[in-house]
Amino acid sequence: MDRFDTNGLRGLVKADRVHRDFYINPEVFELEMERIFGRIWLFVGHTSQVPNAGDYITTTIARQPVILSRDRDRKIHVVFNRCTHRGAQVCLEQSGNTQRFECPYHAWVFNTDGKFVGAPYPKGYEEGFLEKEKLDLVKIPRMEIYRGFIFGSLSNDGPDIDEFLGPMKKHIDAFVDRAPDGEVEACAGVFRYRYNGNWKLQMENQTDVYHIMFTHVSTTDDDGKQFRREGAEEDEAGKVKVLNNSQTLSDQWEKLPLGGHRHGHVYMGRFAMDKKNQGPVYDRYRLAMEKAYGADAEKNMTVETHNSIFYPHWSIQHLTQHIRVMNPISVDCTENIIIPLKLKGAPEEMWHASLRSNNNSHSPSGMVMSDDMEVWVRCHEGLKTQSTDWVVLARGMNEKFGDTNQGTYESGGTSESGARNQQLAWVDFMCNKD
Ligand code: FES
Ligand SMILES: [Fe+2]
Repeated sequence: MDRFDTNGLRGLVKADRVHRDFYINPEVFELEMERIFGRIWLFVGHTSQVPNAGDYITTTIARQPVILSRDRDRKIHVVFNRCTHRGAQVCLEQSGNTQRFECPYHAWVFNTDGKFVGAPYPKGYEEGFLEKEKLDLVKIPRMEIYRGFIFGSLSNDGPDIDEFLGPMKKHIDAFVDRAPDGEVEACAGVFRYRYNGNWKLQMENQTDVYHIMFTHVSTTDDDGKQFRREGAEEDEAGKVKVLNNSQTLSDQWEKLPLGGHRHGHVYMGRFAMDKKNQGPVYDRYRLAMEKAYGADAEKNMTVETHNSIFYPHWSIQHLTQHIRVMNPISVDCTENIIIPLKLKGAPEEMWHASLRSNNNSHSPSGMVMSDDMEVWVRCHEGLKTQSTDWVVLARGMNEKFGDTNQGTYESGGTSESGARNQQLAWVDFMCNKD
């Protein structure tokens, strides 16, 4: 009997615990690439990463190299980064602008929409071969754009993007509607780094409020002062002062609402802010918002959510204003791409404050991220021991909350409900193959 047949996979996830193979088994990882990452909607990039005709970025989806480009008619394309001659990746630059992609091996040339243009020495081919063969770079099976966020699916089947995102579309709306111009812009490049641990360790961590006051003690204790060091206090707007020295587990963190939806999407409510945004920069922001949105300005300016985690591999961090993409490389290696986003039309000072905050918290050496990566690597290594097979995720099971993975639920701040909701979606995708 196959150990990881449907019953075997189901057996890895119990109501309050998961088997360590869920994180460390290479066979399970390969099945995830096929049944989760190979089928559902993944984040590819943002339209503002390719603002001009001829702009492109290279990235991977489900480990497969792709090119995201804007053609000369300004249309967006996502094609596999694979020459249709003998398979070489046609482009290795992380980003750039070009008229055409020229393969480095035998110089076959493709337009920025992926169309085959020509090959050197065409006389070497039978008459008409280069015209009649389908030699264009191959498009990914499905691509959709929602408010500038570009999604790709490696399967022609499966839920459409509206069904898949469901109520999470509102989380994208809430973020974009904070911009007076109604658009966000990725115009500061990206951070890209890896850690030696399974992708789910990070996905589950993103609504894990239980760890914050311990893993990030250098930030949260009275001597930590991490967010004070960033200089954000001097700015009158856009600060990301999320932590307050007087916060304690019982009176603050437990109150933070956690929630989730079908398909494994989860979110964390807003941290208590110790000071209301105010001052001349914020006043300018308010004016711009009132001009753009009228009576809705106040609502649009209010940040209700700390982060929104879209299953299986990306999130919006609302306060620090970035997208975090988590690309699995192997069972024990994950690539992070951090994409800071500017609120178009808001004062520049706000953008600079959010960039400083991102540098301090989510760059490779950022104080928050380096703490987290340390514990994810330790988890992955610890799970290789034969001590016990089970990982306990029972916190918050004593609370009443809704029917996870079937609809909306909310739970208390330090519950492990987010991880459990993602794990129920994992079982659905892994075990219901159609
Ligand atoms: S492999 Fe690309 S031109 Fe030969
Ligand atoms: Fe953390």
